[in-house]
Amino acid sequence: GIDISSLRQQTGLVTLDEGFVNTGSTRSAITFLDGEQGILRYRGYAIEDLAANCDFIEVAYLLMYGELPSADKLSVFRCGIRDHTMIHEDMRSFYNGFPRDAHPMAILSSVVGALSTFYQDSMDLNDPKQVEISMYRLLAKLPTIAAYSYKKSMGQPFMYPNNQLDYCENFLHMMFATPANEYCVDPDFAEALNLLLIVHADHEQNCSTSTVRMVGSSNANLFASISAGIGALWGPLHGGANEACVNMLEQIAADGGNVKKYVDMAKDKKNGFRLMGFGHRVYKNFDPRAKIIRTCCDKLLKKLNLDDPLFEVAQELQDVALKDDYFIERKLYPNVDFYSGVIYRAIGIPVQMFTVLFAIGRLPGWLAHWMEMHANPATRINRPRQICTGQQLREVIPVEKR
Ligand code: ACO
Repeated sequence: GIDISSLRQQTGLVTLDEGFVNTGSTRSAITFLDGEQGILRYRGYAIEDLAANCDFIEVAYLLMYGELPSADKLSVFRCGIRDHTMIHEDMRSFYNGFPRDAHPMAILSSVVGALSTFYQDSMDLNDPKQVEISMYRLLAKLPTIAAYSYKKSMGQPFMYPNNQLDYCENFLHMMFATPANEYCVDPDFAEALNLLLIVHADHEQNCSTSTVRMVGSSNANLFASISAGIGALWGPLHGGANEACVNMLEQIAADGGNVKKYVDMAKDKKNGFRLMGFGHRVYKNFDPRAKIIRTCCDKLLKKLNLDDPLFEVAQELQDVALKDDYFIERKLYPNVDFYSGVIYRAIGIPVQMFTVLFAIGRLPGWLAHWMEMHANPATRINRPRQICTGQQLREVIPVEKR
């Protein structure tokens, strides 16, 4: 019976929830997440089921349109994406302007933002056909933009997309082929990459998705909204944790593999060090994505006959942390970023590209949320309130008297 809106106007009452720990920003039908039980479902399908039976493009379709596609619909969707894999030739010159050691996430966010300068027709949010083409363009071009950023860092010529290949194979081709050397895509690498992209594809109102919704709620264009989401994902407390985690594992290995020392360091609040790839705002149990990735990691390393010391360090670190009271009391478990880096390393992907791979995986989720938001008549511009702790009214003293 209480009208919160009028109560707020009468009393100035504001709900304060720093970090939005328990504030719902929307209703959403895309993803179900139970952090206590460690359950994740896209559109009602368990993440384990999707990872075992689907390819990434099927899952992208599912997230965006709500149902798994029929074979015909899937084929049309794939072709629609393939039509757009090239980037405008003029965009290639952007890369000349970036320093060679530029972080690929900075390049990704900038070039995606710049897509709105090339596709100005996409600004019309009232034209569903244009919006759909913009989505196809993003799905198609993100791997190309990403692979070019790697080629730039290597000083190698850019490799055009090869539309005979599937989504993951094509990305690996653009990363590792050169005009001098054809790159024969290893099906195990493509399979592992496909799985990683699926488990990253959506995670309800996480920081980057909320950013995409926040920016989109002002009716900003789709490219601007996704570019902002990429910026949010880059942070080490979010998607950037996969890069930070491998850097940490390398440091532990170089330091003699003494995992206990690092677990103890993470418990000491004074030094600001945290175990990267550990803990989650919502999961208070094993992150189901971490379980799937760990199994894949184990399988891939065995198949390749690879003995990555970082995998051993990661397993030991997990074992020690999970038996430690500090981690038990706070329900801190490995998250999606804990083992993914070991797989990326096995595939040959450099550490700076890890979060870029996360962005490629998360894109369908961002698009699905953007569409859902715009389709919802209840959507209003996102505009949180604050409790002002600044100065009361005071008078300006002229500069010569200050
Ligand atoms: N190492 C050590 N202590 C930790 C860690 C960690 N990785 N994560 C949380 N804690 C501690 C906090 O210090 C805090 O302790 P306190 O209650 O004694 O103050 C308690 O656990 C709760 O942590 P918060 O920071 O309040 O939890 P929040 O939900 O705000 O943060 C986050 C979640 C950012 C993921 C955090 O766990 C973290 O920093 N983890 C490391 C970075 C990381 O792996 N991020 C990727 C997350 S998954 C993703 O975004 C894709």
